[in-house]
Amino acid sequence: MKPKVLITRAIFPEVVEELSRRLDVEHNADDRPWPPEELARRLQGKEAAMATVMDRFDDPILAQCPELKVIANIAVGYNNIDVPACTKRGIRVTNTPGVLDDTTADLTWSLLMAAARRIAEGDAYVRRGDWKIAFGVQYFLGQDIHHATLGIIGMGRIGRAIARRALGFDMRVLYHNRSRLDDAEERGLNATWVERDRLLAESDFVIVMAPYSPATHHLIGAAEIAKMKPTAVLVNSARGGVVDDAALAAALKAKRIAAAGLDVFENEPRIHPELLSLRNVVMTPHIGSASRATRLTMCRTAAENITAVLEGREPPNPVNPQ
Ligand code: DGY
Repeated sequence: MKPKVLITRAIFPEVVEELSRRLDVEHNADDRPWPPEELARRLQGKEAAMATVMDRFDDPILAQCPELKVIANIAVGYNNIDVPACTKRGIRVTNTPGVLDDTTADLTWSLLMAAARRIAEGDAYVRRGDWKIAFGVQYFLGQDIHHATLGIIGMGRIGRAIARRALGFDMRVLYHNRSRLDDAEERGLNATWVERDRLLAESDFVIVMAPYSPATHHLIGAAEIAKMKPTAVLVNSARGGVVDDAALAAALKAKRIAAAGLDVFENEPRIHPELLSLRNVVMTPHIGSASRATRLTMCRTAAENITAVLEGREPPNPVNPQ
C-alpha cells in the first residue's frame, strides 16, 4: 500500500504524476479552496499534505489527523500553519525557500516601478479613451527611480535579491534587519544598515520584506507612514498584515505619501474598500512567485520534502525539528 498524500489545490500535472509513482495522491484538481471541515475530512488517513498559504493548519485540525506526518507548504512563508502545534504532534513542516527569491524580487520591482511611474493609472487612462491630446509636459508626472534612495525592511534572501537589482539603478540602499550583513556583502550591495526610523525618513522607496508573525503585525502603520517622505512610495510584497492596510489607505487618500504597490493584503482576497477607489496604488493578486518556472520548482521542492519525510530521511527544507 502506498502512503496517502493530499494536494490541497490544483498544481502541475507533471508533479502529480511524479508523486503518484510513489504515493497514493488525492489532488484538488478543481482548485476550489476547501473549508476547514472539508480539509479535515479529506486529510483522514493521509500521511502527507502539500498545501498553500490558504490552508490553515491549526491545532483543532491537526488533532483530527493522527496519521499526518508532514505538511509541505508550497511557499516560503508558513504563517498558515501552527508550527509549535505540529512539532508537539510530531508533524514535520517544510517550505520552499530560495527557489522563489529572484521571481519575487522581480515582481517587487515591477510594483515599485509601476507605482513610481504610474503605469496602471496610465494604462487605465488610455483604455478608457481619456487620452485626447497626444502629449502634455505635465502628464502623469511620477518619481525618478534612478539615483533615489531605496529602503528595505527585512534583508533576507529576497531583500538581498531586491537590493542587487537596485545596483543597476545607481540607487543608495538603506536596510533594516535584526542582523547585519557582513561587510563584504554590504559593500557588494552598496547597502547600509540603519535604524528603522532613519530608513523611513530618508527613503524614496520603502519595501517591506518581513515575514508575518505576531511580532511583525502592522510593522508599518500610521505612525511609521507619518515618518516617510510625502513623495515616498511603499511596496509590500511580503505578507498581508505586515502593513496596516486601513492606515495605508488613509495615508494614500490624504496624499501623506505619494503611492503604494501591493501584492499582499490583510484579508485576501478581500481588499480594504478605500484602496480600491484610490489611483495612487497599484495592486496585484498575491503573485510574487508566480512565474511558471518558479511555481513548478516550488511544487517539485514540496514533493521532495514529502518524499524525504515519508522515506524517513531529513527533508531538504525543514521548518521545525523532528
Ligand atoms: C510564499 O512563498 O510565501 C508566497 O507568498 C506564496 O505563497
